[in-house]
Order: sequence, then C-alpha cells, then structure tokens
Amino acid sequence: MKIIVLILALTLASCDSVNNRNKLKNVSNEDKKIVIKRDIGYELTKQYCYICHMPKSKESMIAPPLFRVKEHYKPSYPVKEEFIKAIVNWVQNPNEDKVMMPGAVRKFNLMPSQTYIPVDTLKLIAAYIFENEIERPGFHNRNRNRNRSEDNPITLDNGAKWKVGNKVFATVAKLQKMVDSFEAGSSSDYQEFGKKIFESSKVILLDKENKGETWEQLHNYFNKLEGDMHSLIGVKSVDEGELILQRINKKLSSFSDYFEKS
Ligand code: HEC
Repeated sequence: MKIIVLILALTLASCDSVNNRNKLKNVSNEDKKIVIKRDIGYELTKQYCYICHMPKSKESMIAPPLFRVKEHYKPSYPVKEEFIKAIVNWVQNPNEDKVMMPGAVRKFNLMPSQTYIPVDTLKLIAAYIFENEIERPGFHNRNRNRNRSEDNPITLDNGAKWKVGNKVFATVAKLQKMVDSFEAGSSSDYQEFGKKIFESSKVILLDKENKGETWEQLHNYFNKLEGDMHSLIGVKSVDEGELILQRINKKLSSFSDYFEKS
C-alpha cells in the first residue's frame, strides 16, 4: 500500500516535473532531490487533505483552510520533529482533548480520523506543511500579513455588551487567577503554563450555551488570546515568555469591556 501511494505520488510529481526538467538542467542533484521531495509532499497533501482543507468558497467550507491549521500549530511546535509528531498524532486520532482549534471544532465538528493513510505518508505531508508556505484558498484575503482577528475585529452589540453564559465568565476569571499567581523560573515553565492555560481556556469556544453572533464575537475575542497561548507553548526564552504573558493578561482584563453575564 505504502509503495503504491509513493509510486502514485512520484508519477503525479513527475507529470509536473516534465515541464520542470528543462528548468532543472543546471541544478545540482542535491537541489533536485529537494524539489522532488517538495513536489511529493505537495501532491500527497493535495490528495489527502485539500478535499476538506482547501475550500472553494466561504459557503462551502467544511473545515478550516490548511494555512490556518498551520498558523495554529507552528507557534506551539516550532521544532520540525515535534510538529510532525503532533500532526500525525492528530490525523490518526483526533479528539477534543488534543484540539488546538476549538473554534473550528465548534463550527465544523471534530475532524474524522483518517486511519487509512499510512504513517510514512502522513510524515511526508506534515513535513511539507512545516517547510512550505501553504497556499490560501482563492476567495481568501491575499494579504499575507493579515490574520483572522484583523479581518474580524471584535465589536459591541449596538453599543451594548454581549451576554455570555456563566461558564465562560467563570473560565475567564479562573484564567486571570492562574496568570496572577504564575511564577516562572525558566522558559520551560512558560511552555508548561501555556499548555495548562490553553487547556483551561478551550471551553470558552466549546461551551454550547453561546450561539450565533455572540459566539462569533467570542471567537473574535479568543483569536489573539489563543495565538498568544500557542506561542507561549513554543516559547524559547524567559523574556519572550514574559512579554506574551503580559499580552495575555491585558487581553483577559479587556474581556469585561465586551462581555457580561447573561
Ligand atoms: C473529511 C474532511 C477532512 C479531511 C480529509 C482532513 N481533515 Fe483535518 N480537519 C477537518 C475538520 C472538520 C477540522 C476542524 C475541526 C477540528 O479541529 O477537529 C480539521 C482540523 C484539522 C487540524 C486541526 C486540529 C485541531 O487541533 O483542532 C489538523 C492539524 C488537521 N485537520 C490536519 C489534517 C491533515 C494533515 C489532513 C490530511 C492528511 C486532514 N486534516 C484531512 C476535516 C478534515
């Protein structure tokens, strides 16, 4: 099975390569290998992931676009091997405990596990995603520097605060307490704390009590916070950790500017 998949990928890759062969005339063999490996990774990703992760239009979306998935994973797994492990592990066995994109789970439901994909294929796919810029769906804003929260800024409900369930309020209070009492000695303390605080925060989007526009606004609020928590999980120095924690703290304090208990 693995061999068939690889041959298929090589055949697909070589179709493109026919056109590229002339271009590659003066390229070293080492560089050619890199090109072929990238082509294989791309074809496999297209084959196994694009069907759900490269929507043709906003309306037909059944999963987040793949570049968004990468945006959520790379900050937490900046080391290639860890990134590959996380992606393989997820695709083989998606479950709510491991989820990095609670907003997507709530919107599209949990990804069905893709157990029929051989693990070596998955590793090639994950490596491809890690190493290459992932194309955006055609309808998507092409401005690379924009992120979701810039496209969807949080707003008030005609001047009033959004009314959210008790659970979300209690969660934000708990997160604030965790941040207030956190003491760090090393960057790994920040990483562990990042995991802990993100784990505790997922319920903000997963709680089914908040619906419609209120949930959309919670999603907008959560976006930057989630990004910072993911960055904390992959943080490399104490200074960087401290800066991120300050941003998280500020964001948590601003919660009550937009939301109140229903
Ligand atoms: C049948 C549709 C489908 C296919 C095929 C699919 N996915 Fe997904 N995937 C989803 C949906 C829906 C979500 C969003 C909900 C979620 O996070 O579980 C998702 C989310 C993800 C996430 C984020 C998980 C998280 O932490 O929340 C990753 C990573 C992912 N997919 C990787 C892949 C890769 C890699 C492939 C190809 C090997 C793939 N998916 C194929 C439907 C699919």
